[in-house]
Amino acid sequence: MVKTAGGLPAPVVKGFVMVRLENITHGYGPARSRTQVLDRVSFLMPAGQMWALTGASGSGKSTLLNLVGLLDRPSEGHIELAGQCVTGLNAYETARIRNQLIGFVFQSFHLLPRLSAWENVALPLVHRGMGKNARRDAAMAQLEKVGLAERLYHKPDELSGGQRQRVAIARALVSSPRLILADEPTGNLDSESGAMVMQLLRRINRETGVSILMVTHDERLARTCDRTVVMQDGRIVQTGAG
Ligand SMILES: Nc1ncnc2c1ncn2[C@@H]1O[C@H](COP(=O)(O)OP(=O)(O)OP(=O)(O)O)[C@@H](O)[C@H]1O
Ligand SMILES: [Mg+2]
Repeated sequence: MVKTAGGLPAPVVKGFVMVRLENITHGYGPARSRTQVLDRVSFLMPAGQMWALTGASGSGKSTLLNLVGLLDRPSEGHIELAGQCVTGLNAYETARIRNQLIGFVFQSFHLLPRLSAWENVALPLVHRGMGKNARRDAAMAQLEKVGLAERLYHKPDELSGGQRQRVAIARALVSSPRLILADEPTGNLDSESGAMVMQLLRRINRETGVSILMVTHDERLARTCDRTVVMQDGRIVQTGAG
């Protein structure tokens, strides 16, 4: 990865490879009784694209997303993010790369109930040593981008599902990631809110160039992505445009 003077990763430009997976194999449980969940998965995702990962329940989608997000390590294989090999890094380096490169969006939002919208969005900035005012300004700017400038002081239970997910997207964006990993971001939403969240992710992808890898069961939403990757029993069985 190219480093800038400040030690932060340089912006990843379109045409670069954002995610390279090489023969990723993964299982859960102790070695002998290990259940094989991923079997030699390889792909190359160019920076700036938005991809959908689909497939039946249990096919290994979340497992794969967690490995790309450095939340777990593959049993075998090799992962590169923005040109840097990330398998074999120690816990400190792994956390640093994850914080600098990746934003997560989850099906059930994962917002802290006692914090307001802006406080939830600002949370990832606490570890960056920013003062409260700077954190609030950064969070407010992101909430404006997702259309929630009027909801800064609302708690999660005072927001609709679609609004909660937009807060979660603002939180994922606040640390200027290069890659957003979203596991069924529309899974808990009605179809109208789901379509709105999807349009928002697409707009953010086009405007900022952030790469998005998204798990979805919704084929209609998957078709709006640059590429669909279909998984079955831990293997990629099909990839296609849109
Ligand atoms: N922590 C774990 N320990 C043991 N087995 C696990 C664990 N997590 C997942 N599995 C198993 O790995 C397989 C793949 O699970 P995964 O969650 O990746 O599927 P998925 O494609 O995301 O499914 P869904 O669409 O239902 O979310 C499943 O058979 C699951 O039971
Ligand atoms: Mg899953």
